[in-house]
Amino acid sequence: MAMTTSSIIIINLLLLLIISFFTKPITAEPSDFKQKPLLPPPKMEDAPNPGGGWKPVFDPVSFNTIIGYHWDGGFDYLHDDSTRLQTVELWIPVSRANLRYGKPTPSECCFGGSYDGAPYLIYIHGGAWRDPEIDAMSFNKTAVNILSSLAHQPGALSPEQQSKKKLAGIASINYRLSPYPNHPTDPSYSGDIDRSAKHPDHIHDVLTALGFLQKRFGVKEYILAGHSCGATLALQACMDDKRWNIWGGIKDGEGDVLTVTKPKAVVGFNGLYDLAGFIESPPREYKRWQEAYKEFVTGAFGEDEKVWREACPASADPKWVKEWKLSYEEKRRKVVLVQSLEDSLVPVEQTEGMVEYFEKENEKLGEDEKVKVVVLRDAKGGDHDEVWKRGDKMAEILWYVMEGAI
Ligand SMILES: *[C@@H]1O[C@H](CO)[C@@H](O)[C@H](O)[C@H]1NC(C)=O
Repeated sequence: MAMTTSSIIIINLLLLLIISFFTKPITAEPSDFKQKPLLPPPKMEDAPNPGGGWKPVFDPVSFNTIIGYHWDGGFDYLHDDSTRLQTVELWIPVSRANLRYGKPTPSECCFGGSYDGAPYLIYIHGGAWRDPEIDAMSFNKTAVNILSSLAHQPGALSPEQQSKKKLAGIASINYRLSPYPNHPTDPSYSGDIDRSAKHPDHIHDVLTALGFLQKRFGVKEYILAGHSCGATLALQACMDDKRWNIWGGIKDGEGDVLTVTKPKAVVGFNGLYDLAGFIESPPREYKRWQEAYKEFVTGAFGEDEKVWREACPASADPKWVKEWKLSYEEKRRKVVLVQSLEDSLVPVEQTEGMVEYFEKENEKLGEDEKVKVVVLRDAKGGDHDEVWKRGDKMAEILWYVMEGAI
């Protein structure tokens, strides 16, 4: 592809989506309803260690087919010290579940298997750092869609396909929230430790969860996706820990110090990248949200505008792109920024500002050090939350990123 010096790629999303990649479901016909499942369901009650929380995930298009397993209730990433929201949800594709002992476990994880290099997909939910109604399970629909397309790939369950290293697992992170005392139906109260968080608590939790996934499940390479403030957190995870007052690694609930590997790619959906910029001069059609932004930003980051600037990926100074270091062989870092042009809460200017920041940083970097930036402006992307509520387009875009197509 002919590339300009800026190395920024803009893709017309509508054109892109014409190439539908979801292969025809192999068991979609009603007459096939009684078809044998791709793999026999494991007999959970016979498992040697009963009480495990792996629950089968059934295919939305052929209901008796198991396409993966989801750990019911999430894992506490701080072990006994975890609060209610310090958990991570995990899904594993059926082809990668180790059923040898009658109990599914991720096949490459620390239960004895060796890591084979397949990446994880990890998601950080949005909700303006405070919404009690949005959590890690908001990724469930997208996760199930991805597991489904994985299972329906030709030869999905053959050993050759498994060795293609496409996807080892899917995780979605919960983190403590900031206060929301005037929430209409579920107001926070001051003694709630899960809803009293203040920056940098949120990013601490995210990094702890990433460390937990590395230690417990052998996650090395991963794509980190986030929606709204989850996109902010995903890019904050690429910055130097010292910006978040972390010196000498993250401590987990077992007393170990974890080194957290950075993601090889970040995908931001309808992301917030420059809060101070928005509050200072919101685009005209978004001016009515100025006070609401100020309220949640103050709740999450405090009153000091300098802190807002330093915390946000498009305004942080000194610049941070060089801090995003990959510790494995892969050198190329990638950012995919997806913004719906129908989003009534977050303006496209947030994404534009982020692109500009990368553009300027890239100018200072050598050719192989540049961050590849892909921008998808979706004219028919729906309102702010539609992309995760529906889960189909989000799955499609993430699939493209996993395939390396974008
Ligand atoms: C996840 O989504 C699938 C498909 O929409 C649904 O069948 C399932 O019940 C959901 N799981 C949970 C735990 O909500």
